[in-house]
Amino acid sequence: MGRLLLSFTLLFSALSPISSDFVIEGIRNIQKRSTGKPVNDIEVYSVIIRSQVTSRFAHNVITSRAVNRADVSKEAIFNVDLPKTAFITNFSMIIDGVTYPGVIKEKEAAKKQYEKAVSRGQTAGLVRASGRKTEKFTVSVNVAPESKVTFELVYEEMLKRNLGKYEMVIQVQPKTLIRKYEIEVDIHEPQGISFLDAKASFLSNDLLPAVEKSFSGEKGHVSFKPTIDQQRSCANCTTTLLDGDFTVTYDVNRETPGNIQVVNGYFVHFFAPPKLSSVPKNVIYVIDRSGSMSGRKMQQTKEALLHILNDTSEHDHFNFILFDHRIIPWKDSLVKATPEHLEEAREFVKSIAVYGWTNINDPMLQAIEILNKAHANKTVPERSVSLIVLLTDGQANGGESNPSKIQENVKKANDGKYTVYSLGFGSGVDYAFLEKLALENSGIARRIYEDSDADLQLQGFYNEIANPTLINIEMQYPENAIADLTENSFKHYFEGSEIVVAGRVTDNDLNSFFVDVKAEGAEEPKKYTENVQLQSEDDADKQQKYIFGDFTERLWAYLTIQQLLEKRIFADPSEKANLTAQALELSLKFKFVTPLTSMVVTKPEEKDKEEETLIADKLVDGKDQMTNFPQAASLAVQYARRTSYQPPAFVDSDPHFVINVPQKSDALCFNIQEKPGVILNLIEDKQLGIAVNGELIGNKKTENDVISNETYFGRIGIVNREMKMGIEVTTEKIAVLDPNNGIRKISWKKTASISKEGFNLVVNKGSNVTISFGEGATFVIILHQVWKNHPLHRDFLGFYTLDDHKFSEGVHGLLGQFFHGISYEISNVHETDNPDKPDATMKVKNKLLTVTRGVQRDYRKDHKNGNNVPCWFVHFNGEGLIDGSHTDYIVPHIFSIAY
Ligand SMILES: *[C@@H]1O[C@H](CO)[C@@H](O)[C@H](O)[C@H]1NC(C)=O
Ligand SMILES: *[C@@H]1O[C@H](CO)[C@@H](O)[C@H](O)[C@H]1NC(C)=O
Ligand SMILES: *[C@@H]1O[C@H](CO)[C@@H](O)[C@H](O)[C@H]1NC(C)=O
Ligand SMILES: *[C@@H]1O[C@H](CO)[C@@H](O)[C@H](O)[C@H]1NC(C)=O
Ligand SMILES: *[C@@H]1O[C@H](CO)[C@@H](O)[C@H](O)[C@H]1NC(C)=O
Ligand SMILES: *[C@@H]1O[C@H](CO)[C@@H](O)[C@H](O)[C@H]1NC(C)=O
Ligand SMILES: *[C@@H]1O[C@H](CO)[C@@H](O)[C@H](O)[C@H]1NC(C)=O
Repeated sequence: MGRLLLSFTLLFSALSPISSDFVIEGIRNIQKRSTGKPVNDIEVYSVIIRSQVTSRFAHNVITSRAVNRADVSKEAIFNVDLPKTAFITNFSMIIDGVTYPGVIKEKEAAKKQYEKAVSRGQTAGLVRASGRKTEKFTVSVNVAPESKVTFELVYEEMLKRNLGKYEMVIQVQPKTLIRKYEIEVDIHEPQGISFLDAKASFLSNDLLPAVEKSFSGEKGHVSFKPTIDQQRSCANCTTTLLDGDFTVTYDVNRETPGNIQVVNGYFVHFFAPPKLSSVPKNVIYVIDRSGSMSGRKMQQTKEALLHILNDTSEHDHFNFILFDHRIIPWKDSLVKATPEHLEEAREFVKSIAVYGWTNINDPMLQAIEILNKAHANKTVPERSVSLIVLLTDGQANGGESNPSKIQENVKKANDGKYTVYSLGFGSGVDYAFLEKLALENSGIARRIYEDSDADLQLQGFYNEIANPTLINIEMQYPENAIADLTENSFKHYFEGSEIVVAGRVTDNDLNSFFVDVKAEGAEEPKKYTENVQLQSEDDADKQQKYIFGDFTERLWAYLTIQQLLEKRIFADPSEKANLTAQALELSLKFKFVTPLTSMVVTKPEEKDKEEETLIADKLVDGKDQMTNFPQAASLAVQYARRTSYQPPAFVDSDPHFVINVPQKSDALCFNIQEKPGVILNLIEDKQLGIAVNGELIGNKKTENDVISNETYFGRIGIVNREMKMGIEVTTEKIAVLDPNNGIRKISWKKTASISKEGFNLVVNKGSNVTISFGEGATFVIILHQVWKNHPLHRDFLGFYTLDDHKFSEGVHGLLGQFFHGISYEISNVHETDNPDKPDATMKVKNKLLTVTRGVQRDYRKDHKNGNNVPCWFVHFNGEGLIDGSHTDYIVPHIFSIAY
């Protein structure tokens, strides 16, 4: 996605000159003065991160202090990466003893101030996406000489239990040595802490003593206070070691399945039963095998699936449905995870090849159908969990391609029966679509980041859902005494997670109440009952001294807002307005920066200047960049979609034929040496009635009449028998022969297009012509122009297949015969005289050929220089690789087609 994404990145970096965390530093182009003062005029002398966790609710305060040691004003920048799941609740600046507090406003109301700030070129204070789990908050302010500034940021989040632990990540990246650097975490968990650990990715043995961790009963404590010498990356260095994640993990005792905290009339109920046996799962993996999955993505997917198969319990049932523009189920029905079936499945997974486009609708409906049948036939246990796991890296462009229609179809067919998880692999997905698809079917969506650990991300997701131990969980509270309940019924409980419900106690005179949890276990129904004693005022006071007192209320608000925002994603438009209004009301009341609110800080500018407004915002995944940079983002997405798809086969230059083999992430290539004037058949599909032929031209004759052997395609003919059409492309013009319209000639000098039922032709001035016959047969011919008076070379053409999925099994020709894949094995790779071009043995079609590693060029993206395509070169006119001999492909006419 090269160019477009790059400009996107530049845009970001232009806004944020420093891409790190708690950084405050002067801008770079400082006028040097010979005062002997430190070069770094803005000195950050203190960074303190304090985190208080009470019953999973974390309240974090980051305070950073700096002084301007220069004798002119300097800009200080405050940069923090905070978790995406967190809400900012306050931000303020203290400059020379004056506090400039943040005020939370409705986003619409803040918009004017924002626009005013932007019109002045001030966009600081924006929050934008940064890491996988973080978003970046940046603020900059001018600091007068000898003045001090303090930044204080407060954010809150609920720590979610996952695989048996809670995890809190603090990004540490001060970029510079800091006199006072402190992280301090206090945890208070009424159930008692069962373990507590703290790790830092950058911690060396020298720094270990700087981390203190301890826990006892309800309390846990972690602190990290490296001295300035401990921060140095080496003994006398002025650079810092601190750079990475500081992670605190812990869990609580599980002596009772539940724990309920009531403070100030709000309660929070945590439910995580002790280990139970797993409920059998019926899982259908709906896996995208379209062309864009080629290479590492498919490799990692296979890797993850193989691990998942190995972790599948024998009592589970499973099946795979691969899809491109078609559906390729592994089995017609679900199979039990017996060792034999698992072995068969492993072989199947290893053999997955990538091909074609993306049809999400049909495989999803098929998955539902297979589960329906299995339940109707009772081939799966009655007490079992049925899941559909969809993995895709693209957007629907085959079959039903309207996202809302797909959502509607799946929702209707599924009717709440099975849980849908959607995994969006890479940046080309429509995450908002996947999220809605999952949420509407009681599941969740996840992003899989395209990176070296993508297989681990996939496995990690599977591990989370690997062990359902309860199904259809109902949390029942006394109706007459409780109100404003958050979500209280759940489809599954997965081992290692936790269910959290919050609400308000409406009856002030209540001393105690009962809570029932009803669910289905692996063998029998389960019921858990809890008697909640409401605390006396004294108890509550005592507890509040240690913790922040209103945490149950804030946790309730946090959960309620999160759930309202989530519901909004799939609500009817009429309902949506009400959900938005409720979420906004709560965001304003509890002062959370959510997607509906912004925080405005009015900060002082230099004398005589207007005051400046800063805004802190919240991002929405899948929509984030869209709101800020709608055009760049949508272009980047489209571009990614188009270019990640390798053309199945093409021929360019001297004619070099290149056959991409996506399942091996590799390519094969060969040349054809024939005389100028010879016409070669590239594609011929008798059934479809389409053929493509190319005529060779040579180089110009040189003065001393030496003829070079190089040839190129100078004329290409495309014929469609059914449409009675012929298209002739030369280096001069494009001629379309059509019985109804006669001959139309289009010069390469203009951009033009012709479009009719089942046919599309677009000429991009001086560059290329795209020709498609409906969906599934698209070609591009690239015009290579050389300098007019070039002594040797002439203009020539390159031919690329962009989409070949419409072609029949019988398609043939020098390129066409490879449209349905080619299998070969490479062995015995060995060096030759040229170290860049090793030889190897290729086993193909039961023959052994000697092939040589080489590079060809694909000129689609870079018209001038081309992009390298490494390939195995098959010598002697492709002999042994192509069917028959190359002379078999010589045809009499540019529009030849066999009947
Ligand atoms: C935000 O923080 C500032 C500085 O600590 C404080 O004065 C202000 O009251 C806080 N605002 C809220 C809403 O807590
Ligand atoms: C560090 O600086 C001190 C004092 O200038 C010097 O004595 C010492 O050798 C230096 N150490 C290293 C490792 O350079
Ligand atoms: C899965 O199990 C098979 C058979 O026990 C083993 O050969 C293979 O290495 C395992 N694969 C992975 C990815 O763990
Ligand atoms: C379910 O049962 C019907 C009738 O016995 C049979 O036709 C069908 O193939 C079965 N389906 C599966 C998935 O076993
Ligand atoms: C949302 O709708 C409910 C009833 O349907 C109503 O009681 C409530 O006041 C509405 N909330 C807002 C914020 O409009
Ligand atoms: C051209 O082809 C002839 C015969 O095929 C061969 O002998 C000659 O070496 C070739 N010339 C070049 C420049 O490759
Ligand atoms: C065709 O040319 C246009 C205009 O130069 C360019 O944007 C486009 O990427 C080219 N397409 C291919 C497939 O080469």
